[in-house]
Amino acid sequence: MTVLAIDQGTSSTKGVLVGDDGAVLARASVPVKCCYPHPGWVEQDAEEIWQSVLAVIDQLPAPDAIALSNQRESAVVWDDTSVSPVIGWQDARTAPDCDRLREHEPFVRARTGLALDPMFSATKLHRLLGGRDDRRAGTIDAFLVHRLTGEFATEAGNASRTLLLNLETLEWDPELCELFGVPLHTLPEIRRSDAGFGSHRGVPVAAVLADSHAALYAHGAAKATYGTGSSVMVPSDSAVDGLAHTLAWRTDSAVYAVEGNILASAAALDWMARTLGVEHLEPLARQAPTTDGVHLVPAFGGLGAPHWDRDASGVIAGLTLGTTPAQLARAAFESVAHQICDIVDRVELDALHADGGATASELLMQLQADLAGVPVHVSTSPEMSALGVADLAAGGRRERPTRTFVPAISDDERHARREAWHAAVRRSRMASP
Ligand code: G3P
Repeated sequence: MTVLAIDQGTSSTKGVLVGDDGAVLARASVPVKCCYPHPGWVEQDAEEIWQSVLAVIDQLPAPDAIALSNQRESAVVWDDTSVSPVIGWQDARTAPDCDRLREHEPFVRARTGLALDPMFSATKLHRLLGGRDDRRAGTIDAFLVHRLTGEFATEAGNASRTLLLNLETLEWDPELCELFGVPLHTLPEIRRSDAGFGSHRGVPVAAVLADSHAALYAHGAAKATYGTGSSVMVPSDSAVDGLAHTLAWRTDSAVYAVEGNILASAAALDWMARTLGVEHLEPLARQAPTTDGVHLVPAFGGLGAPHWDRDASGVIAGLTLGTTPAQLARAAFESVAHQICDIVDRVELDALHADGGATASELLMQLQADLAGVPVHVSTSPEMSALGVADLAAGGRRERPTRTFVPAISDDERHARREAWHAAVRRSRMASP
């Protein structure tokens, strides 16, 4: 059976045609734009997203089934004749709405597993509905499924990113809908990830997964995805302090995970390359065998998981007159690995799986194994989200090649380097109340 897996992301819609054996037979990709109408606002055009999905389908041979993975948390409202802008997951315009509800945070966290944060969909959906209750409200999966098949349905893992899903019953929670001002009847029916979501031009839409969750499905175990920021996701039935607790997917049973989001990963590398005026940071970083006590804490917009401190500020600690550009470059790579370790340290792991753009850096992957103290299995495929949902549609996870980096430093050295990093993080947080 061939599966056309569509990965609808923030900056592009990718499609891969996956064959019987799990191999990629063909690829297509269409960029999508973001716009920033005010500071802190991030919008996308829902029609452009829809057209990008159609274009990807049209560029690839007709499959036996379609599978969809999608950017999470972004919100959209529509009816038969019109559609709102998409309020993107990075959009922080509803931060004041969250602050007004702050007293309810313990209740919200207990019901949903999530922090009361503008990233999640509920406050965005409330704004987009604007007091009306006669439109459809949902995340990108629900919008695309409705356009593709005419069915008004959402996938359970996507629903768990809205602040409206009760993590125990896996149904919309009437009290949360009331609290956030999102009428329950405006929301789509929740379906399991492999339930079937109707058909498009006669081809069944067999499975839907949120993108990060789809990558977790493809890896089959704890994973870090390295992007502009990073996401670490670990299967776990119980909540972990400082991390989001979320439904990964629902098939015959429900699989839960904890997730930590880091705000600056590739962003830290890009910033350092720009600042040092080099095009490629890795060759420079390789010239320094150590940073000699220099640490970059890239808290450009505060720190994400597990600290969640928006008041933390970016610092470079440990500078001396002898500090070299190569040491600064190396400190940027170490900052990416240390931040991942800050999350990994909160869970029990015997290995970490990795995907995403920055995994192309051997220096970074070796640092990651050294500082985490576990082997790092790096995926050789750049399309883990699409492959994950393709596997689910085809009946189960398929093994794919990885490249493994094993720790090459002693426990003592690791502890010393981690402790020095923690000291730098404390400096970055000194401005916090
Ligand atoms: O939580 C947001 C995430 O799902 C977006 O993923 O790949 O579009 O940046 P991506």
